[in-house]
Amino acid sequence: MENVSLREMGYTVCISFLLVSFGCQKLNYETVAKNIAKEAKTNLIEKLTASLASGGTVKAIPFCKQNAVKITNSIGMKNEVLLRRISDKPRNPTNALSDEERNIFLEIGAKQSKEGEYPSKIISTKDTVTVYIPIPTVGLCLQCHGEPNLEIKKETLNVLQKEYPADLARGYRVGSLRGLFSVRFTK
Ligand code: HEC
Repeated sequence: MENVSLREMGYTVCISFLLVSFGCQKLNYETVAKNIAKEAKTNLIEKLTASLASGGTVKAIPFCKQNAVKITNSIGMKNEVLLRRISDKPRNPTNALSDEERNIFLEIGAKQSKEGEYPSKIISTKDTVTVYIPIPTVGLCLQCHGEPNLEIKKETLNVLQKEYPADLARGYRVGSLRGLFSVRFTK
């Protein structure tokens, strides 16, 4: 009788341990991904702000065109993940969504909290774990992603037209979902 209950206790401990470690692993991917996205965001905003200070949007747009994807890729490589910035209305067509990503984007976009925050989402497959992290619009973004002729000035529109004739990344407001970081780990 005693033996059986000891064995049962053993099973319970083992199962609890497995559940807890599974939970931790999930938590860990999300935490690591958020840190990587934060590093990329800080780095991109630092360089964007410096470029804006030295030559305004007219200089910062070609700077972003030359460097944004490169910086994002290299921060991903450094952290041994595949890091991308993706959007339903991309400026650079490289950053467009796949069908699966479109569903995830819609789901995250629909779940804005009362405080204006969007959730992140984790998708696991046999070989990968991908964490999607929201990129909301803030005031600084509007001079290049806001309302044309209102927040985006004429001279900025001219540069955008030249550099990105198929640009979709306009008309955003503070708080709207500009894009997602996709952080993919290989298991
Ligand atoms: C100086 C103008 C400028 C400002 C200010 C700016 N962006 Fe952008 N943004 C760009 C350009 C140019 C691209 C395309 C970069 C490329 O070719 O990879 C871009 C691309 C992006 C992308 C990738 C998806 C896409 O549309 O291709 C995201 C996400 C993004 N911007 C978010 C932001 C956010 C958030 C802010 C504010 C914190 C911001 N941007 C401020 C010019 C700007």
